[in-house]
Amino acid sequence: MAVLKLHKYGSPILREKALPVKKVDEEVKELVENMIETMYVEGGVGLAAPQVGVSKRIIVIDTEEEGVIVLINPVIIKREGESKEEEGCLSVPGIYSPVRRSSIVTVEAMDLNEKKIQITQEGFLAIALQHEIDHLDGYLFIDRLSPAKRLMIKDELKNIE
Ligand code: NI
Repeated sequence: MAVLKLHKYGSPILREKALPVKKVDEEVKELVENMIETMYVEGGVGLAAPQVGVSKRIIVIDTEEEGVIVLINPVIIKREGESKEEEGCLSVPGIYSPVRRSSIVTVEAMDLNEKKIQITQEGFLAIALQHEIDHLDGYLFIDRLSPAKRLMIKDELKNIE
């Protein structure tokens, strides 16, 4: 296993729409292992492949209770409710802010055995799923802040870049 280099705000790959994974081969499995290692070492609760410079639709989330969830080509197929909880991101270090999200989401994805799976989560894990899936479409949590809040963090963002 290896710890991968984290891409931070300003890196173009974070703004790309990541490509679907067609086959879970050894390369993908190795990437997933390294993403999990990187997430732990960096102290994150979730990580998306573009954050380590790979344009693939893969996310990992640390659920604590059930270990790490690996989702390949995840798609949110159902949303319910509203929440507004503080978020941060390994790619946007030092910035934390409440973000408006759905409170419950159902996600369809493929697992490491290429099996189709569906999970429904609420609370913290629902937020993590939405945050990480956003990364696959080139969005960061700061994009979802109000214009006033974004203006407040403008200088901090410049420092990351
Ligand atoms: Ni993030």
